[in-house]
Amino acid sequence: MLRIEDLTKSFGPNVAVDAANITVEKPAMIGIIGRSGAGKSTLLRMLNCLTDATSGRIKFEDQDITALKGKDKRRWQSECAMIFQQFNLVPRLDVVSNVLHGTLNQRSTMATMFNLFPTSDIHRAIDILDRLGIAEHGPKRAEALSGGQQQRVAIARALMQDPKIILADEPIASLDPMNAQVVMQSLRSIHEEDGRTVIANLHTLDTARRFCDRVIGMRDGRIVFDGTPEQLTTGAARDIYGADDSFSEEATSTQIETLDRTDAEDVVA
Ligand SMILES: Nc1ncnc2c1ncn2[C@@H]1O[C@H](COP(=O)(O)OP(=O)(O)OP(=O)(O)O)[C@@H](O)[C@H]1O
Ligand SMILES: [Mg+2]
Repeated sequence: MLRIEDLTKSFGPNVAVDAANITVEKPAMIGIIGRSGAGKSTLLRMLNCLTDATSGRIKFEDQDITALKGKDKRRWQSECAMIFQQFNLVPRLDVVSNVLHGTLNQRSTMATMFNLFPTSDIHRAIDILDRLGIAEHGPKRAEALSGGQQQRVAIARALMQDPKIILADEPIASLDPMNAQVVMQSLRSIHEEDGRTVIANLHTLDTARRFCDRVIGMRDGRIVFDGTPEQLTTGAARDIYGADDSFSEEATSTQIETLDRTDAEDVVA
């Protein structure tokens, strides 16, 4: 369904992503790990057409994504919704309206200007918030919510687009361990229950191991590991992070290690 072929992005002499090849045959939950500067964000940004590739190709269900322009490109961008570390909500706007903004691509300028949303969309937004365990916060301003709740609003906004793929760039990097766990569990449920592919850049190896079926390791723009969490041995982790001190610091930092996955399931339910 998704095929990334020799995808490369250079910034002058600096090759941020170097001939990456990734094939996703069926919906999956994929974690991308690697040190700072490895090229993780650049890879996600190319997938979402936020930045153009220097060379190579992205194909999705026989469409050439790298060649899309104008309306077709915008349609693709709503089919692969993006979630960011800093949530990117409108802080002073209520939660439901923030979620409804996920439908902006499909609405007229006039309707957008006057904040006119069809009742069916409003119901859908509330249902999605309910599913994520935060419906009671619907009328509040986004800025009044905790970081974990705000990230779930961002996920709800992404779901409003009914995306085939959710791209998450360090979705839990600003969250405390409990909220991090809840957000990862929400993404996992969305993958399992809806059959959507989730591709998340993650800061720690443990999070990738715990929540993903497949882990991709990047180093200096190259994919140096692509396998299951079980195949991600200490040796493989050293190849990804390097064998110096930063390996022990970055790869073994266990942000949510001490929490049991069922704790988060309780909160989401
Ligand atoms: N707009 C840009 N202009 C110039 N260089 C860039 C730009 N964006 C990224 N880079 C460079 O590309 C490389 C990969 O950056 P990228 O942000 O993709 O890494 P990352 O793996 O996401 O890192 P982090 O974990 O810190 O978020 C880095 O060397 C970075 O400096
Ligand atoms: Mg990044």
